[in-house]
Amino acid sequence: MCKYTLAFAISLVLLSSTVWAQKDAVDAEGHPWWKHAVFYEIYPRSFADSNNDGIGDLPGINSKLDYLHWLGADAIWIAPMFPSPQVDWGYDVSDFYNVNPDYGTLKDMDELLAQGKKKDIRVLLDFVMTYTSDQNKWFQEAKSSKTNPKRDWFIWHDGKGAGQPPNNWTSNFGGSAWKYSPETSQWYYHYFYPPQPNLNWRNPEVEKNMFDVTRWWYKRGVAGFRLDAVDVMYVDAQLKDNPVVGTEKNAFGDPVENEINDKNQPELHGVLQRLRKVADEYNAVLIGETWTSDIDQLKAYYGAHNDEVNMPMNFMFANVNKLSPPDFRKQIQWVEGSGGWPVYVLSNHDIRRVYDRYGDGQHNDQIAKLMASLYLTLRGTAVMYYGEEIGMENNDPKRPEDVKDSMGKVGWPTQKGRDGERTPMQWTAETNAGFSTVAPWLPVDERYKTYNVESEKRDANSILNYYHQLLSLRHTNQVLLDGKYTALNESDSNVLSYARSYKGKSVLVVLNMSDTTRKVSLNLASSDAHTKKAATLLASFPAASQVDIGEISVAPFGAWIGETE
Ligand code: GLC
Ligand code: CA
Repeated sequence: MCKYTLAFAISLVLLSSTVWAQKDAVDAEGHPWWKHAVFYEIYPRSFADSNNDGIGDLPGINSKLDYLHWLGADAIWIAPMFPSPQVDWGYDVSDFYNVNPDYGTLKDMDELLAQGKKKDIRVLLDFVMTYTSDQNKWFQEAKSSKTNPKRDWFIWHDGKGAGQPPNNWTSNFGGSAWKYSPETSQWYYHYFYPPQPNLNWRNPEVEKNMFDVTRWWYKRGVAGFRLDAVDVMYVDAQLKDNPVVGTEKNAFGDPVENEINDKNQPELHGVLQRLRKVADEYNAVLIGETWTSDIDQLKAYYGAHNDEVNMPMNFMFANVNKLSPPDFRKQIQWVEGSGGWPVYVLSNHDIRRVYDRYGDGQHNDQIAKLMASLYLTLRGTAVMYYGEEIGMENNDPKRPEDVKDSMGKVGWPTQKGRDGERTPMQWTAETNAGFSTVAPWLPVDERYKTYNVESEKRDANSILNYYHQLLSLRHTNQVLLDGKYTALNESDSNVLSYARSYKGKSVLVVLNMSDTTRKVSLNLASSDAHTKKAATLLASFPAASQVDIGEISVAPFGAWIGETE
């Protein structure tokens, strides 16, 4: 064997041990793995600290894979763990090909991928494809001169006049979206923080280099990416001003704009189609950070032939923000009718936790179980956020000097930023919730003595044990995995009910979103179920093992899941 053939053979062996093969990608009935999987988002800085420096890290995540497996997570998405000056906590990437020393090394990542493979947990990374850090060597080169070969990798323009940016676009983090660069007397565009210059996706070299980043990680065994901020990947080629809406100011004191020229440009769909082709070569999956204001926009992200983002996250569902059966019903119906596979999310590192958003201050634990029962029994894939399973709540900064999130620094006090939903995971009742032996980078929530993994594992009625039971039900019940969705009792404004049906079997879900006990008489006429009795599969309150579907009594904020007989 010549030495190149040998090297090729060795690399194949190495690859085959970490890369997920086609046979693992589809189940016996032909469903791709991600349609049945439960994804779990990890904010790496806050999950588990292995070396006690107050910062979570990759070996920390590795040490918790058994927990995640027990819980019922099939895949983890790790928020950015790349080298970064951390202006936006990792969403400012200075090197796409490495691991931030705060979190470990490439070897730690390889180890995590290998252990994940052994324990059947796929690892997805965050692909920050729309911008880089201003410390990224690509930008450092680009800003050095107008003739630098990397100049056109970013978006540059002359100002309108002295000290005047090229147009009126505002940054998502406040102020103009343009920053003056004295080296060349031009302005560069940044939709987010000034140290996050946007890449110029109109340049084919950007596409080639960024696609190569994904290939490099797929070859290491990464099972897919969460695509960051796809809606702002392109801007209008002529850089036309956005129309200003009304005279009110936003939380940063800027005029409110209708973002027709700096968001959702049609060209982004071409990139997504080509990026999907690359992902398909590796059986990888793309999750989209797809903020949309209507269902047509969401539909567009699936692609006309389901050839763009496999899993565009539906944030309109997460944004319902009140316990309203009619509102949830409408959202579910929309995405059910979209033709794409639904993706449900309630919480993430940019959104206040479920416990705060839906809690009424008195029944928060019940409400946490209720919301779990909603997004984990619908037809579709669910993306969880770390800590939701133990009922973590927002722990917002109390003083401006404590704020770590750039958004809160700029917007204080009207906008306190997102630190509150990013605090350390609560593992035990010990100091710092067992996250670290030293003070963590963000303060642990005071409620950690009760709300932590160890204590909740021992309490049969805990939120954690409820999640555990719900997730094992979801994984083993074919009807919950594949069954079609039918809304029931659609005029009920207090209780959200639906049936899931598959091959002659039905699962019924009844969610009481009110603070009083409700008696529900399920009308199954619209569904495939024909029965008078149902067996309880899981309930968040003491329920009989068999119920009459003409008279199901559901506790305040209670969730009942049953199977027809
Ligand atoms: C994405 C991230 C968010 C970040 C923003 C700008 O929306 O989810 O955390 O602040 O991009 O980088
Ligand atoms: Ca650490």
